[in-house]
Amino acid sequence: MDTTTNETDGMELSETLEQLKADTLASLDTAADLAALDAIEAGAVGRESPIAAARRGLGKMDAAQRRDAGRMINEVAKEIEAAVAVRKDQLASEARAAAIAAEGIDVTIDYVSVPSGRIHVVQQVIDEVCDIFIGLGYHVAEGPEAETAWYNFDALNTPPSHPSRLESDTMYVDYGNPEDEMLLRTHTSPVQARYMEQHDPPVYIVAPGKTYRNDTVDATHLPVFYQIEGLAVDESITFSDLKGTLAEFARQFFGSTTRIRLRPHFFPFTEPSAELDVSCFNCDGGESSCRVCRGVGWIEMIGCGMVDPRVFDAVGYDPSSVTGFAFGMGVERLAMARHGIDSIRHFIDNDLRFLEQFPG
Ligand code: DAH
Repeated sequence: MDTTTNETDGMELSETLEQLKADTLASLDTAADLAALDAIEAGAVGRESPIAAARRGLGKMDAAQRRDAGRMINEVAKEIEAAVAVRKDQLASEARAAAIAAEGIDVTIDYVSVPSGRIHVVQQVIDEVCDIFIGLGYHVAEGPEAETAWYNFDALNTPPSHPSRLESDTMYVDYGNPEDEMLLRTHTSPVQARYMEQHDPPVYIVAPGKTYRNDTVDATHLPVFYQIEGLAVDESITFSDLKGTLAEFARQFFGSTTRIRLRPHFFPFTEPSAELDVSCFNCDGGESSCRVCRGVGWIEMIGCGMVDPRVFDAVGYDPSSVTGFAFGMGVERLAMARHGIDSIRHFIDNDLRFLEQFPG
């Protein structure tokens, strides 16, 4: 075997490998991205690379030369691969930094939660009252807030001379005859007349909505407030039905031990009429210092009575074949009693510290 040639080959191989290493390491910095780096790596140590060619040449060498040459090739290949790996890490972290900068997201910034709204406590009470009556077989009806004097007063047996029709009490939109004189309804009772005109008996409805009165704001009055009206008309409805229905409502709304009492009263559209009080759910009538009933033991809650035959006449019902009861309640008043709220003004102040106490 010609050792001279082999030594020369060995020299040439080591020079070739050193040159390859030097060129490759120098070119790594010029690789701008991972794809360019992959190309350089393939060119140095891949299938068609000088390293691969050198490995293929090992077969022609004798054992001793093959061992030395093989070690040399492996060392150079390893050094190149290690340098490529370092550069690869560098490019990857540069790419990550560029992506973060481009997306503009700073993951260290606190998550800003957007508070969700909630249903106003007045609307919560409306929903709850309607649900109770729906459970008793009632439908929900509605009527206009700008109402004629006819539906608001005349159809409800309230004569033109009645003091509630004065401008000191009622806000007028347009003057004229009762049929076209427009006002902001002072109660939800006109929905009774409108509904009966449109529907034959039997009638079982509740009618929630906004009502208006010429009142100055104080702890118990708002010029715009809410009422819920109720009306039941059928054959042979009696005062006992009225009492049983409202007692059941009071138990469901205020609590199962709630008692009711009825005091004679006057409303133009019911005869007889009554005010319904509920026993104080806070002290049950036992405490002179109670903040809810102020020691009275009862809370005045609902106006009610048997529908006056003149109302049936006005809407075209035959008073000799049907009877009925009606009732009306102030929603803010219900909410104040239920939650121990001391001023009706809280409902319109839009103070989140108040509103957030009623998550619903
Ligand atoms: N509309 C009356 C008011 O605003 C409340 C009322 C009383 C309604 C008796 C009724 C009723 O239906 O029968 O004060």
